[in-house]
Order: sequence, then structure tokens, then C-alpha cells
Amino acid sequence: MKERISQIKALFLAQAKAASNLQTLQQLKSDFFGKKGFFQSLMDEFIKIQDKESKKEIGALLNDFKKEAESLLIENEKALTLEQSNNQNISFDPTLSVPQADEKGNLHFYTKFAEEIENVFLSMGFSIFEGPEVEDDFHNFTALNIPKDHPARDMQDTLWLEGKQNLMRTHTSSVQIRTMLAQGAPLAGISLGRVFRHEATDATHEISFTQCEGLVVDKNIGLGHLFGTAKKILQEIFQRKDLDIRTRPGFFPFVVPGVEIDMRCVFCTKGCSVCKHTTWIEVFPGGLVHPNVLRSCNVDPEKYTGFAFGFGVERLAMLRHKINDIRLLKSGNINFLKQF
Ligand code: PHE
Repeated sequence: MKERISQIKALFLAQAKAASNLQTLQQLKSDFFGKKGFFQSLMDEFIKIQDKESKKEIGALLNDFKKEAESLLIENEKALTLEQSNNQNISFDPTLSVPQADEKGNLHFYTKFAEEIENVFLSMGFSIFEGPEVEDDFHNFTALNIPKDHPARDMQDTLWLEGKQNLMRTHTSSVQIRTMLAQGAPLAGISLGRVFRHEATDATHEISFTQCEGLVVDKNIGLGHLFGTAKKILQEIFQRKDLDIRTRPGFFPFVVPGVEIDMRCVFCTKGCSVCKHTTWIEVFPGGLVHPNVLRSCNVDPEKYTGFAFGFGVERLAMLRHKINDIRLLKSGNINFLKQF
């Protein structure tokens, strides 16, 4: 039996080394190690051995053969797979998928929605402010009346960059600071762009989302200006002239007083799951700019006052289009996008 084992082993090793493609290797595997292969026939013989000593010896030989064969097969399979993928002719086949005449490319509905919001603000005399996504501590926090070690820093979970000098902006308020420093007062504008939070994602939270923040600084600006602006914007976005708002107190270090502005639910009149059966939906935090913020930007709070607000663009898009998961917006899912 020893003789036969070494013959079969030699045959296997020679053939495995010569195998030049994956099919041959597969065939070899089943010829030698399949249910009816050579190795099984050796095993059948092995079971019948009575003598303890020779059983031990033959068993060890069979074991070695199997181990050696297995590692050789794995090695060859790897090498041949790599070779095959390198040789594959990756060519462009123009007949593969012909776009239908009505399948033209389109702007993402969310891009269009953001542009629509910008246009509403532009029509009301606001400018568009731009600023960087990577910020420093001063523009994102300190100038906004959130000094170092202030507990309000914990309100927004921050993604710090290596060295903790810079961060991914947590809100677009940093752009308002940059613009006020550069232009002074009076001014009116919005900054719409990506912001980043170190948060777990779920149906209503993303690590990155879009914020639209507004700022108006002039003489005699009061809360009435903020409420009027919020109402007008929401009426335009939801195309409902009768859309009502209400306000509640809210806390943000950069405004005083701070407010939360809710709008009437656009889906119901008596309460539903979206408005949590209150008929009001929270959409718009804001307030009057804190004098410390104006001072940080070299604007005299004795002469000027201002209002500021900031809302999540995805949240409004979800409300308008009845989308229940924020993650769908950037999923690139064609079936989802085709609905718009
Ligand atoms: N920056 C605030 C935030 O990201 C939003 C906000 C802006 C609140 C202006 C009030 C006033 O949470």
C-alpha cells in the first residue's frame, strides 16, 4: 500500500504543477480528492488494515499527502486566478446596454431642491456666502460665543482633524463669521453647504448633511424680521400661502434670545405620525445675534443688531417629498431617484 500511496502522490504533484488553468485544477481536485477519487479509494483500503503498527504508519503517510496536496491546490488556485484576471480582456461593448430615449441624465432632485431654496432667498434680497468645509476653532466656535471648555461645545459632536488644530465644520455659522469679518455691517445672506457631525447614522441622522444658515445684520433688526422671513421661506418651499408658524424658546450660544420655529404640519390638520400628533413640525432654529458674536467680527452691537437662523436642507426635502430615510438621498439608488 505504501508503494501505491507514493505513486498516486507523485502523479498528483506532477499534474498539479502542470495545471495551466483553473478548470484543469478543478478537474484534478475531483479526480484525486472527490467522493470517488483516488484518495478515497486509498482511505477505503486504509480502514480495512488490522495491524496497529502499519495502520499508524499508513495513516501518517495519508495525512501528509492530504496536507501537502491541499496547500499546493490553494497556492495554484491563487496564482491561476490572478493570472486569469490579468489576462481578461476588459473591453467596451457598446451593444451591451443601450440607454432608452427617455433615460437622459438629470440633476439630482436634491440639488434642484437646494437651488430652489437659494433662489427663494435671492429673490428676497439675500446674497450667497461661501466658505471652507475645513475650519479652525475660532470661526467654528470661539467667535460664535462658544469659548474653549464651554459645555456648549458638546452640543455638536465634532470631527477634529489630526493635531486637533482644524475640524470639519459642524455648522455653516462659520461662514457667517468669515463674511462679517470681511464685509462688516450691514449685510444679509445665506450660506448653504455641507456640515459634519461625529454621529451614528440612522433614518434621520447622517455624518454629513446640508445646512442653510441665514444672517441679517442692520440697524433696528428685531425678532419680527426673523419670524416674517421664516414664514415667507417656508410658504415658498412648501408652496402653501396659508402655512402658519409658531415659536418657542430655544438655546444656542450665538443668539439671544434663541428660538425654535415650528411650522404647521403639511400632511394633516388633526395630527399624524410625522408631526407626532401635535400638528406642528420643528424646522427652524434661530434668534437674535449675540452681542459677543458681533464684537468678535468687529461690528458694534450698540449700532447694529441682527437675526440668524439655520435649518437642515435634507429635513425639509424629506418633509416635502415624504421620504422616510435620510440615507436614501445620497444612496445613488436609481429606483428611488426615478420617482422624482
Ligand atoms: N448653527 C446652529 C446649529 O447648527 C443652527 C442655528 C443657526 C441656530 C443660527 C440658531 C441660529 O445647530
